Amino acid sequence: MGEKTVVIPGALSSALRDARHICVLTGAGVSAESGVPTFRDAMEGLWADYDPRKLATPEGFAEDPALVWGWYEWRRKLVRDVEPNPGHTALAELDALASRLTLVTQNVDGLHQRAGSKNVVEFHGNLFVDRCFAEGTVVETVDDGEPPACPSCGGPIRPGVVWFGESIPPDALQMAFAAAETCDVYLSIGTSSEVFPAAGLFDIARSAGATTVEINPNVTEQTAHFDFVLSGKSGRVLPELLDSVFRPNL
Ligand code: OAD
Repeated sequence: MGEKTVVIPGALSSALRDARHICVLTGAGVSAESGVPTFRDAMEGLWADYDPRKLATPEGFAEDPALVWGWYEWRRKLVRDVEPNPGHTALAELDALASRLTLVTQNVDGLHQRAGSKNVVEFHGNLFVDRCFAEGTVVETVDDGEPPACPSCGGPIRPGVVWFGESIPPDALQMAFAAAETCDVYLSIGTSSEVFPAAGLFDIARSAGATTVEINPNVTEQTAHFDFVLSGKSGRVLPELLDSVFRPNL
């Protein structure tokens, strides 16, 4: 058994053990240890000269659908070739250990579901669901390098993710806001907390009186305002947190 390096304060252990409802928000950092680059990491290889924050926009797609489609094909392949990491697995375990857990993710990679998490609220959509750019309808596609055309209107098909400037799917927004308002413990994991409305869930939870916890190896815009900050990678911190809180005699 490896040496424990994360110190879990007693008050945090009690809050987690006693929680009737835990709300978790995850971001790209949770998938970093699986090999999926975060949005703030510089891209490598083929895509080194591109800024994801420009590609992930409706304007970017309208300007060059083939370029944006190609980038998403590259990301789909990358995600298919990786596995969930111990951070994803620990969150799936927490799902089973907690009285109630709502897992809201900004990630579109499906790795939480592959690790066994149930009822994941996909705040920014899903990389593997395609939609008609004009009509928004879900369309089955085959990845063959070219952006496919919609069988109904003939227009381009886009990945079913939320781009900058677009609205969050209403169901996801409603479920996430309700969870932030009613949870006893709110965990923000692997997110830079710069993109709203996801980053605003923290304020909702804090105003409603939840115990707030951030897990991140780096400082974020919101770090100073959390009740507890566990500094480190989620693939290491989360398994240690679960052991310490729910299996203290190990
Ligand atoms: P970011 O790329 O903005 O931030 C990733 C965060 O993960 C940073 O705060 C890192 O310090 C942290 N991090 C890195 N490695 C980590 C690790 N091993 N364990 C834990 N944390 C780690 O990603 P998001 O906050 O998810 O939106 O970005 C939010 C949204 O902005 C994304 O969903 C996407 C993006 O552009 C859209 O595409 C609409």
